[in-house]
Amino acid sequence: TLHYPVNQEGHLTIAGADAVELAKEYGTPVIAYNIDLVRQRARKFKDTFDELNVKSQVAYASKAFSSIAIYQVMKEEGLSLDVVSGGELYTALKADFPPDKIHFHGNNKSYQELEMAFDANIGCIVVDNFDELLTLRQLTKERKQRMAILLRVTPGIEAHTHTYITTGQQDSKFGFDLGNGQADEAFRLVYDDEYIEVLGLHCHIGSQIFETNGFVAAAEKLLLKMQQWNETYQYTCPVLNLGGGFGIRYTDEDEPLSPEIYVKEMVLAIKRLSNESAFPLPEIWIEPGRSLVGDAGTTLYTIGSQKKIPGTRHYVAVDGGMSDNIRPALYQAKYDAKVANRMTAPTNHIVTIAGKCCESGDKLIEDLSIPEVQTGDILAMFSTGAYGYAMASNYNRLPRPAVVFVEGGQSQLVIRREVYEDIVRNDLSLYESEEK
Ligand code: LLP
Repeated sequence: TLHYPVNQEGHLTIAGADAVELAKEYGTPVIAYNIDLVRQRARKFKDTFDELNVKSQVAYASKAFSSIAIYQVMKEEGLSLDVVSGGELYTALKADFPPDKIHFHGNNKSYQELEMAFDANIGCIVVDNFDELLTLRQLTKERKQRMAILLRVTPGIEAHTHTYITTGQQDSKFGFDLGNGQADEAFRLVYDDEYIEVLGLHCHIGSQIFETNGFVAAAEKLLLKMQQWNETYQYTCPVLNLGGGFGIRYTDEDEPLSPEIYVKEMVLAIKRLSNESAFPLPEIWIEPGRSLVGDAGTTLYTIGSQKKIPGTRHYVAVDGGMSDNIRPALYQAKYDAKVANRMTAPTNHIVTIAGKCCESGDKLIEDLSIPEVQTGDILAMFSTGAYGYAMASNYNRLPRPAVVFVEGGQSQLVIRREVYEDIVRNDLSLYESEEK
């Protein structure tokens, strides 16, 4: 079961800071990250590779939560970075992230985004399709600039997770099909290109995965392909990238493995395969997103109105909702929460936590046991650090929440709460654009 630290006042603490005080100081909703935990996870991923003596890169899949400060944390921890858009790349460069450790993903990178990547001279581009490959050939030649690439493939593996977030199965918008010759054709087009350096293969089989066999099966398929190319073209791909997808605990029902276990089982399988085939052990790259930041994030909301429907439901509403966390509405994602200022009170009420957005589907948690609450109490919703703020919107013109980092009991603001002025920043008055 999950244990949450409580101080003498009976308040929840986050990385040593009183959650109720955080709510007072920064207002609500606020997303508070336990950065001690983020660093611990980052080190575990890296150290496990090092202990097993394999060359590796652990790239933070920053779509999970992108901001200048989180990029700085990952840089301090010596991680690489996976970006998927010009916007994420821009943020990374603003954070002074070393460009040679940035990997650029995406199934429809624009010409301008690719130019940005070349201007910054990033570490590698994960090529998704033939159109992109041809654009890259043209860009490298025109600019006389070398670029390292990984070829993204769909290995035909279905990870058992929500269908919206599986990406490795054959019918996917991502990557070259591994089984039908597409990947071979892509490799043949560029392996001896004078400017393009093929590092190897990439796949990502899904997200929130609780077992290692999918990763092992994928590794097997990719390694076999790299070995075939080695035989056919005498070209040795030095890198195998297995993507992200390592699961985390949202509720007591989730049983994720630890970063060590995911890495260890993957590495041991790849070592065995490489031994058997006499193909040199490649560098192993991974791209964890959720497992680095997910359970390090806690959203603090203020409880407002309540509605009791006798014999049916008891709604407790908070001052945020699907605008700051769309996952319950979009994926039926489950979360756990506690009342941060009543951590020791008996939890004898079963309630539905509702957001404040104008639609019935804006429910954050159903059937949550909490103590009796009143307006002004602070609800702490756990494991909101991945794909929460990242997928936030201004639906109903709600300003996006503040984001705070907490480390060793000390907190700092890293993303300001939006104000109404931000909400209308890009609005023009009627006829305004014609006047200028
Ligand atoms: N690498 C690639 C190529 C990916 O597509 C993804 C996630 C990752 C790495 C990181 O996966 P992670 O370690 O975070 O599971 N919005 C959904 C998740 C979408 C994941 C998309 N790709 C959610 O809220 O569950």
